[in-house]
Amino acid sequence: MKRLVVLALVFAAALGSVRGDELRLRVEAPPGSRPHSVTITEFGAVGDGKTLNTVPFQNAVFYARSFADKGGAQLYVPKGRWLTGSFNLTSHLTLYLEKGAVIIGTKDSSQWPIVEPLPSYGQGLDLPGPRHQSLINGYNLTDVVITGNNGVIDGQGSVWWDWVRSHELNHSRPHLVEFLYSEEIVVSNLTFLNSPAWSIHPVYCSNVKVHNVTIHTAPDAPLTDGIVPDSCSNVCIEDSTISVSHEAIALKSGWDKYGISFGRPTSDIHISRVDLQSSSGAALAFGSEMSGGISDIHANQLNIHDSYKGISFKTSLGRGGYIEEVVISDVQMHDVRVGIEFTGNCSTHPDHFDPSELPKIERITLKNMIASNLSIAGILSGIENDPFTAICLTNLNFSMADSSPSSSWSCSNVSGYSEAVFPEPCSELHNSSSSSSICFSLSSYSALAVA
Ligand SMILES: *[C@@H]1O[C@H](CO)[C@@H](O)[C@H](O)[C@H]1NC(C)=O
Ligand SMILES: *[C@@H]1O[C@H](CO)[C@@H](O)[C@H](O)[C@H]1NC(C)=O
Ligand SMILES: *[C@@H]1O[C@H](CO)[C@@H](O)[C@H](O)[C@H]1NC(C)=O
Ligand SMILES: *[C@@H]1O[C@H](CO)[C@@H](O)[C@H](O)[C@H]1NC(C)=O
Ligand SMILES: *[C@@H]1O[C@H](CO)[C@@H](O)[C@H](O)[C@H]1NC(C)=O
Ligand SMILES: *[C@@H]1O[C@H](CO)[C@@H](O)[C@H](O)[C@H]1NC(C)=O
Ligand SMILES: *[C@@H]1O[C@H](CO)[C@@H](O)[C@H](O)[C@H]1NC(C)=O
Ligand SMILES: *[C@@H]1O[C@H](CO)[C@@H](O)[C@H](O)[C@H]1NC(C)=O
Ligand SMILES: *[C@@H]1O[C@H](CO)[C@@H](O)[C@H](O)[C@H]1NC(C)=O
Ligand SMILES: *[C@@H]1O[C@H](CO)[C@@H](O)[C@H](O)[C@H]1NC(C)=O
Repeated sequence: MKRLVVLALVFAAALGSVRGDELRLRVEAPPGSRPHSVTITEFGAVGDGKTLNTVPFQNAVFYARSFADKGGAQLYVPKGRWLTGSFNLTSHLTLYLEKGAVIIGTKDSSQWPIVEPLPSYGQGLDLPGPRHQSLINGYNLTDVVITGNNGVIDGQGSVWWDWVRSHELNHSRPHLVEFLYSEEIVVSNLTFLNSPAWSIHPVYCSNVKVHNVTIHTAPDAPLTDGIVPDSCSNVCIEDSTISVSHEAIALKSGWDKYGISFGRPTSDIHISRVDLQSSSGAALAFGSEMSGGISDIHANQLNIHDSYKGISFKTSLGRGGYIEEVVISDVQMHDVRVGIEFTGNCSTHPDHFDPSELPKIERITLKNMIASNLSIAGILSGIENDPFTAICLTNLNFSMADSSPSSSWSCSNVSGYSEAVFPEPCSELHNSSSSSSICFSLSSYSALAVA
């Protein structure tokens, strides 16, 4: 049955190759690509780095839509520098960037339209009210691939970073790539540079795969994040290198009352074989916007270096929500200031907040970690009368920078269990009435690994 479908696709592809250039593209295109292909130049685009191509991109996607029920289409972007404003994608589309192709976001802010704030945030991230639409957008889509032979998507974010610093922004910054309410999304084999804010932001999505991408922004760019799964389920991030100013990977699910009432959690997230660097934030962060809940997260084989913080769990009074059932294993850290952080005092709020909305952080396991040249092993501070519980640390060997104080852990309002942790952790993690049984799902995950 499956083979019949594949055969039909191949047949359709062969029928479709009437023009020589299409045939050439198809030979270069990766397996599994679409039966139809259009090239951005067919819509009048000019890849000279100066001509604005917003309309060609919009028209090309509009045309590609006519193939949605015929196996979809590939939008091919050849070598060149393709300046554009914001544009939308469509379902059953592959956006393919050839080697040497660079999609460049224009510095003209009027080419980034103003759209409603996300319902789970209630306002933009930089400013109250609406926000700029991202460079490449998916809204309500299914089956979209953004890939290539290491093409580049460059947001020219420095102009936005300057506007943040000089308080000239009128609306919150855009991201590079954003999908809302979408499913079956693949982003791979590309480089993302200089996002105005976040680089890849799937929100209210499911079945998202990010594979083999490189993401970079300047180390002093204000609050630029790499990949931010936000109120999403079933997201897989693998084999990628991310170096940004703020969080390299951040898992989120909405902000205070907006996130609580929207009620869409982030769950079932797998992160593996990633190289992460964050100059002023954390390499891997949870929250601080987590009001819809975050659970069932498995991260392993992380290489974290030259970062302010390694792994950080952040929340605040008024957030509500939860972060639970997290297993992080096989981590290397080098030249990191704070290895592990838990904080209940990340207190920025979109509005007046209800302090009785207590967040819950529990059942977090961190195991098999090696670190060198850390300044502080861990700062774990929960919320008074709302402690973070069942935090389990096993097999951690942290070697501290020579200048570090001898008390390399500090803990308050947390409880949990530790085993084979060096340096010796604080007494809060020596709870004698608990045992390794609190270590979340170690057995179920190792069973999965064997299966
Ligand atoms: C892009 O999608 C957004 C959200 O659906 C919509 O408001 C906007 O009009 C679309 N832009 C274009 C050019 O189609
Ligand atoms: C989004 O998709 C749903 C069905 O999946 C549809 O009912 C709704 O009208 C769509 N919204 C927009 C703005 O396209
Ligand atoms: C990663 O992407 C590059 C192009 O960007 C490609 O050459 C390479 O083969 C890809 N590697 C994997 C493992 O997919
Ligand atoms: C903000 O608005 C002012 C007045 O309309 C305009 O001159 C300026 O270019 C805008 N700034 C940005 C960054 O869009
Ligand atoms: C990414 O590149 C690898 C290696 O060339 C290839 O196997 C894979 O199919 C590509 N991914 C996509 C989505 O095209
Ligand atoms: C340790 O890290 C600090 C910065 O955190 C760096 O300046 C120093 O060179 C590192 N030392 C070694 C031995 O790597
Ligand atoms: C929370 O952070 C604020 C500002 O950073 C600080 O003034 C306050 O003392 C902190 N509260 C606790 C309980 O740590
Ligand atoms: C921790 O690692 C250092 C070197 O990286 C090694 O010398 C030491 O034996 C290790 N300690 C434990 C308890 O495994
Ligand atoms: C909780 O944290 C606060 C502020 O650090 C501290 O004063 C208090 O003693 C802590 N409570 C417990 C039970 O550890
Ligand atoms: C010790 O662990 C048990 C079981 O997880 C928990 O009920 C108790 O509150 C913990 N005690 C302290 C002092 O944290």
